[in-house]
Amino acid sequence: MPATHHQYDLVIAANRLPVDRVVAADGSVSWGRSPGGLVTAMDSVMRERDGAWVGWAGEVGQAPEPFTEGTIHLRPVPLSAEEVRDYYEGFSNDTLWPIYHDVIVQASFHRDWWRSYERVNQRFAEAVAEVAAPGATVWVHDYQLQLVPRMVRQLRPDVRIGWFDHIPFPPVELFAQLPWRRALLEGLLGADFLGFQRVADARNFVRACRQLLRAPTRKDTVTVTAPDGSSHTARASAIPISIDFQGLESLAKTPEVASRAAELREQLGSPKVLMLGVDRLDYTKGIRHRLKAYEELLRDGAIAPPDVTFVQVATPSRERVDSYRELRSQVEHTVGRINGEYAPIGSPAVYYQHHSYPQDEMAALYLAADVMLVTPLRDGMNLVAKEYVTARHDLGGALVLSEFTGAYHELHQAFVCNPHDIEGLKQTILKAIHTPDKDKVRIMRALRRRVSDHDVARWAARFLDALASAPARPERQEQQDRVDEASRTARHAGEDLKEREDRHRRLSERRR
Ligand code: G6P
Repeated sequence: MPATHHQYDLVIAANRLPVDRVVAADGSVSWGRSPGGLVTAMDSVMRERDGAWVGWAGEVGQAPEPFTEGTIHLRPVPLSAEEVRDYYEGFSNDTLWPIYHDVIVQASFHRDWWRSYERVNQRFAEAVAEVAAPGATVWVHDYQLQLVPRMVRQLRPDVRIGWFDHIPFPPVELFAQLPWRRALLEGLLGADFLGFQRVADARNFVRACRQLLRAPTRKDTVTVTAPDGSSHTARASAIPISIDFQGLESLAKTPEVASRAAELREQLGSPKVLMLGVDRLDYTKGIRHRLKAYEELLRDGAIAPPDVTFVQVATPSRERVDSYRELRSQVEHTVGRINGEYAPIGSPAVYYQHHSYPQDEMAALYLAADVMLVTPLRDGMNLVAKEYVTARHDLGGALVLSEFTGAYHELHQAFVCNPHDIEGLKQTILKAIHTPDKDKVRIMRALRRRVSDHDVARWAARFLDALASAPARPERQEQQDRVDEASRTARHAGEDLKEREDRHRRLSERRR
């Protein structure tokens, strides 16, 4: 559809649009679904609403024209090659990402990256200001856009602004390492309401505001005083994200997915136990720890192919960032070693897939897997864990879940592990394999109930309700007062008119 200059009552800003534009070597263009949990969740939320989504289309250089997909107006934001390097790969994914994930790898600090981050955040804010209707709700997402709330506030004091953090918010001791810590907090405090995955994340944020900005805080609120002396409060609470339970469950119930699941098991040599891992190829996901535990179980003779096999789907991610390159080569080296050492010809011990799959294939894999390994060292939520239990409408399967995921705080009945404790992880994997089916059914039922009662629609409604009830800001209150005054005047004018008409009617009746 052609570009429109329409304005929207709901505007989303996220680094990525829900679709990615891919230009092949021969120049042909195709659109695919963008990676990551944010898009998985927000795509289904926005499909139900009439709103705009401001984001990057995933390619370097000029952005495509705005277009409409279903009910969503997509407003692409361009990134130059330098900005992809400095704002996206650099500051977002080589500075913030490691700091926000417990510094599993060293973070890099570069002033050029920061300047690029500021510039790109400003561009996002301007795009938001353009498409937001008067008094609109603006919902900013994730660590790539932490300056956007304040920048939008400066451009459009009339809108209501929320921010949701899809990843952990670090303890102040780690956050404090960032040379730009004050600017980041001030950027976020442009929002009226801030949502986090866990109570601990919200607390970390409030504590950082108290210690690093000396801002007065009370429970979940931070008071912000502007240079002109005016002040407002921003609220920070935990609202854990979820998935479209009904949508995925119905997909998993289709005969096509069921027969594909059976076919997959056959293609994998009909193992007694099929284990599965599904992750972006990211060092936060604990893939190396998982492989180490699996390799030791093979070495100990506790498990062996072809009775047991393991499929690891590792979606390519941030491939030009050094730490991701290193991880890829370590993982691929380990997979090669494990297969070389322990797999007889024709029965691999690990099937390693370095690409992403469409949703129906994922649903079939979930249905086929007896044990799902979700072992991150740190993860804001981990929607794969929620997807797995959602797909298991047959109440089969077992979820091994790291206690360092946001999902653990909702799915604690799972087979819980500490991925750093390799011995413990091995025992948990064996427990997940050997627990009697009737107990696994009971566990799976409880896990599924949690996700079905707390699906993505409920998450979005909770966030938007919290944002709608955030206290009005002075500047917005002034604007609201002006609107009220105008409607009062109009009402009075209407009343005057009515009075005049009545008088006129009475007079003409008397004349008759
Ligand atoms: C995580 C982040 C998202 C990000 C996604 C994929 O889920 O929270 O903001 O979009 O990873 O990462 P990428 O760098 O490919 O966008």
